[in-house]
Amino acid sequence: MLEQLSQDIEKAFAEADELIAAAGNVDELRQAESRLTGKQGTLGALLAAIGKLPQEDRGPAGKEINLAKKEIIDRFATARARLERAADRQAAAGAPAFDPTLPGNVVPRGSVHPVTAVQWEVEEILARLGFIVATGPEMETDYYNFEALNIPALHPARDMQDTFWLTNGRLLRTHTSPCQVRAMERLGPPLRVIAPGRCFRYETEDASHANTFFQLEGLMIDRNISIANLIAVMKLILNEIFRRDVKVRLRPGFFPFVEPGFELDMSCEICGGAGCPTCKRSGWIEILPCGMVHPNVLRFGGIDPREYTGFAFGLGLTRLAMMKYGVQDIRGLNSGDLRAIIRPEQRTGPAIIAKD
Ligand code: DAH
Repeated sequence: MLEQLSQDIEKAFAEADELIAAAGNVDELRQAESRLTGKQGTLGALLAAIGKLPQEDRGPAGKEINLAKKEIIDRFATARARLERAADRQAAAGAPAFDPTLPGNVVPRGSVHPVTAVQWEVEEILARLGFIVATGPEMETDYYNFEALNIPALHPARDMQDTFWLTNGRLLRTHTSPCQVRAMERLGPPLRVIAPGRCFRYETEDASHANTFFQLEGLMIDRNISIANLIAVMKLILNEIFRRDVKVRLRPGFFPFVEPGFELDMSCEICGGAGCPTCKRSGWIEILPCGMVHPNVLRFGGIDPREYTGFAFGLGLTRLAMMKYGVQDIRGLNSGDLRAIIRPEQRTGPAIIAKD
C-alpha cells in the first residue's frame, strides 16, 4: 500500500515541476500551486485517501504526504521569487536611466522672522559685553509702565504713548522700559540687562507704525557710567548689525525716564538718505532713543543715584529689521507675505514690499 503512495507522491512532484515550468507569471503560478496543495488538489486527494489505509499505515502515510507538501510549497516559493525578480528587471529596463549628475529636488528651507533674526543678533552682540536677558510681562501695571519711569498720573508725557487699557485696570505695555525697574528690583546694581519684547500702541497704522511691534530695552548701571559709554555701546550695536560703519546722528530727545535723553537716528537704508515713505522723506530713521537713567527711576528701582549712574536705550527691533532687510512697509512684517523674510544673501534689490 505504501509503495503505491510513494509512486503517487513522485507523480505529484512531477506534476508540480511541470506546472512551475509552464507558469509564465505569478498569477498562473498561484493557480498551479492550489491545484497541488489545495484541499481539492492532488495532495488533498492523497490525504483524503489515508482513511482507506490499514490502521498501522495511516501515521507514516500522513507524514510522507505532509513532507511532500512542504517540499512542493518550497518549490513554488522559489519559482515565485524568480518570476518577481524577472518582472523587476523588465520594469527597470523600460525606465529611464538614473542620471547622477542631475540637480536634486529643491527643498524649501524655513527661516526665522526678520525681527527674531535681528533680536538674536543684538542679544549675541550685547552678551559679549556682559549683558543678560531679563524680560517682563506684556500685560503691565500702570506702575511699571509709567509711574516708576517718572511719568506720574496726569503727566502730559503719558500722551506720548497711546495706550491700550485693559478692563482689569492693567495695560498692554507701550514699551519695554518697564523691564528697567523690574530688573533693578530683581538684580540690584551693578547690572547690564537687555529686555527684548513685544509692545503695543493704540495708533493708526502706516508704513512705519504698527499697533504691535518689538523693542529691545538695554540698561547698564554701575559706578561712573557716562554718556561716552552709552555712545560706544550704541555705535557698536549698529556697526555690528549692518557690518559697516553706520552713519548716525544724535539729537536731544525728551523721555521722562532719562536725563539727558537722546534720539539716535541712522541714515535710512531704504532710500540711502534721499527720503522715502519709510523715513517720512527725512532720510533719517529714529532707531535708538536713549539717555542717562533719571535719578528718580534709579530710586524707584531701589538704587542710590549718588553712588550709581547708568544709561538706557530702547532699540526699535521692528524698525531695525526693516532697515537691515530692506522691508519698506512695517505691515509687510506681520502680513505672512514670505517676500518679507527673504534672507540677506538672497537679497537682490532693496525693495521687498512696496506700499505707499
Ligand atoms: N521707551 C521709549 C519708547 O518706547 C524708548 C526709550 C527712550 C527707551 C529712551 C529708553 C530710553 O530706554 O532711554 O518710546
